[in-house]
Amino acid sequence: MTAFEADAGPQVSILVTSPLADLVAARRAAALARRCDLSLVVDHPDGVAELSAATDGGPPLTVLCDIDVGLGRTGVTGPDPALLIATLIEAAPSLRFGGVQGYAGHAQHVAGRDLRRSSVDSANDRIAAVVDALESAGHPVTTRTGGGTGTVLLDIECGVLTELQTGSYLFMDREYRDALGADPESAFAQSLTLSTTVISTNQTGFVTVDAGLKSMATDAGVPTVVGHPDSSFAFFGDEQGLVTTSGSWSPGRGQRLSLVPPHCDPTVDRHSRIWLTRDDIVVDVVAVTARGRSY
Ligand SMILES: Cc1ncc(COP(=O)(O)O)c(C=O)c1O
Repeated sequence: MTAFEADAGPQVSILVTSPLADLVAARRAAALARRCDLSLVVDHPDGVAELSAATDGGPPLTVLCDIDVGLGRTGVTGPDPALLIATLIEAAPSLRFGGVQGYAGHAQHVAGRDLRRSSVDSANDRIAAVVDALESAGHPVTTRTGGGTGTVLLDIECGVLTELQTGSYLFMDREYRDALGADPESAFAQSLTLSTTVISTNQTGFVTVDAGLKSMATDAGVPTVVGHPDSSFAFFGDEQGLVTTSGSWSPGRGQRLSLVPPHCDPTVDRHSRIWLTRDDIVVDVVAVTARGRSY
């Protein structure tokens, strides 16, 4: 989170979706909570104790219980630890129990809508089981937050979540395009492209461009070349990429090409600015203020 976002004031609500795991981080969070409407998640009783100690005497901090819904990354694994955590939060004078988070990251890129639906349904069943246990024990669960771009419509149909964490829909990327195919979720427009320049044309069958490993996240394979579905991209070095020529298409030295990044979120983190264009004219530029702020 950047100073800019936090300084937007109490009208901006920020949920940090990863648990914090020490008192230093808890103190930083407590300081930020004085400047914006901040909510945090915990998945361990010690996390509650740290936040309670860090916020003592300050304004109440909203804390949600993170539930593992099948991804296995973070979160409590069932109703009993959730009950303990909710009880501890409510017993802490400076904390407020805000509800639950259950992020089904493992479901987002499942290809095939029926398979994705069954993954989402079982994730939401796990959330519902924890919510039932909490509410039966007298802990009202006002917020149930989770979901992402691949499951957004299925989450809405399912009706368990009260808040959606959809993010990639804003830009979209090649990985989501491949997974979603012609499903309704693929209707989100591709708005993010990487502009690259052809820097060498001395070989047959391909040209070299100035976008390589440093230009985009590489966890999800290669980008596609906009407007040239028959050509392919391969990483060619830290600062270089290879684009195959196809048929009569062979871009010249200095020509600009647009690439659809493989994975949008960490690709944005590699750049300091995003240029906004309309009809190929730059109309604005936005600073990526959260760049590099991953810890
Ligand atoms: C906890 C959490 N919520 C929501 C999202 C957003 O998912 P998407 O970008 O696929 O919409 C992510 C993405 O990594 C995430 O980690």
